[in-house]
Amino acid sequence: MRSPSWFETNWLTALSSLALEDCMGWVQLPPFGQLPLLKYLELRGMHAVREIGQEFYGNGDVKGFPILEDMIFDGMLNWDGWSGIEDGSLFPCLERLLVSRCPKIREIPTFSATPRVEVEISPDSPPASCLIESLIATASRLIFLVSSCSFLSDLTTEQLNHVAELNLQNCTDPMPAGGFHRLSSLQVFRISNCSTLLSSVSTEAVDTYLLSPSLCHIEIAQSNVHCSLLPRYLQGLTCLSTLVLNSCHLMTSLSFASESPHLVALESITIKDCNELASLDGFRNLSALRKLVVADCYSFCSLPVDLNIVGSLEKLVICGCPMMRFLPEDGLPASVQTILLSKCHPELDTQLQRKEGAEWNKIVHIPEKKLEVGLIDLLTIFPANSS
Ligand SMILES: *[C@@H]1O[C@H](CO)[C@@H](O)[C@H](O)[C@H]1NC(C)=O
Ligand SMILES: *[C@@H]1O[C@H](CO)[C@@H](O)[C@H](O)[C@H]1NC(C)=O
Ligand SMILES: *[C@@H]1O[C@H](CO)[C@@H](O)[C@H](O)[C@H]1NC(C)=O
Repeated sequence: MRSPSWFETNWLTALSSLALEDCMGWVQLPPFGQLPLLKYLELRGMHAVREIGQEFYGNGDVKGFPILEDMIFDGMLNWDGWSGIEDGSLFPCLERLLVSRCPKIREIPTFSATPRVEVEISPDSPPASCLIESLIATASRLIFLVSSCSFLSDLTTEQLNHVAELNLQNCTDPMPAGGFHRLSSLQVFRISNCSTLLSSVSTEAVDTYLLSPSLCHIEIAQSNVHCSLLPRYLQGLTCLSTLVLNSCHLMTSLSFASESPHLVALESITIKDCNELASLDGFRNLSALRKLVVADCYSFCSLPVDLNIVGSLEKLVICGCPMMRFLPEDGLPASVQTILLSKCHPELDTQLQRKEGAEWNKIVHIPEKKLEVGLIDLLTIFPANSS
């Protein structure tokens, strides 16, 4: 079956975004490469396409996707050949390539751009190992989206060395015996809806670090993190600058105390929607911390007693924590420039509104005081996904 012939007319020359799904009978793709203004192309479920080549790039004055930035291939189950064009001038502006559920494709042609490459590794149709090689050769940044840890053991150490971001979702595996240490260049690790990954540590791994010291951003959401184990996972992360915890309902308290200071680059901690979390402590050695956000944590009532020692802290946000009644007895560090306190315990809210009392006195010196959450604050509390 062919695609409709009007794809080949010039009716579509103004098109900037195109998404096609489940055109399961098409054997050939239309010449989308000649759409001069196309920036976004998403192709999903084109089961009959085996080959992509010249016919896709076009052959008019305009060809080879002159301004395409974002390209997604998903569920192309029989696609096994992707050829380039002679002068190698394909995709000059490509910024992101996403490949998901294309189990047969083994190689990609040369592009003139070096896009960020995202690969979804689904257990039922994993990508060929040589495809990973070919993507590594093209990518400026390699990102994996996976739902099981078993894929790691199928990749070579060299391949794992290229992974810059790992997004682990819906994983039911426990922590692999050696942790994720083999991903030696990993910068961003997002863990979401992984029920058992962070709820125990295998006894074999007692003395080793579980995550790579190259990590700078960790986000854990909707996962069972045991509060006594999180510090164990964070051990040795001397480059970590951002930590985000979202909807981790097993966590009752969190301490950063450690005999050897290690989270020396940690600048930002955001904790949201962790309903059992009552307290934080052991902040003394977090010498780079600039921002602390605790939002929508129903049981939260106790900031670290040693928070006043953290002389780098600039911004403190506590909102939607109805049990939060007292600020730390020893006060807050003089470095704090902005404080946002809103929807806390009614007594605290009232004192602050009236601008009097012991709690008010603890914040009176802070230049910027906000007692209501504004739109800009929401962006701080729920930072846009950096991917
Ligand atoms: C995880 O599950 C959600 C909801 O079922 C789904 O939308 C998402 O694609 C899944 N992620 C992966 C990597 O399988
Ligand atoms: C969470 O993961 C489980 C198990 O893999 C999956 O069945 C479920 O759909 C996922 N839920 C969400 C909200 O992603
Ligand atoms: C801070 O680091 C020192 C060693 O450098 C250590 O003795 C102390 O226990 C640490 N304190 C906390 C709260 O982590």
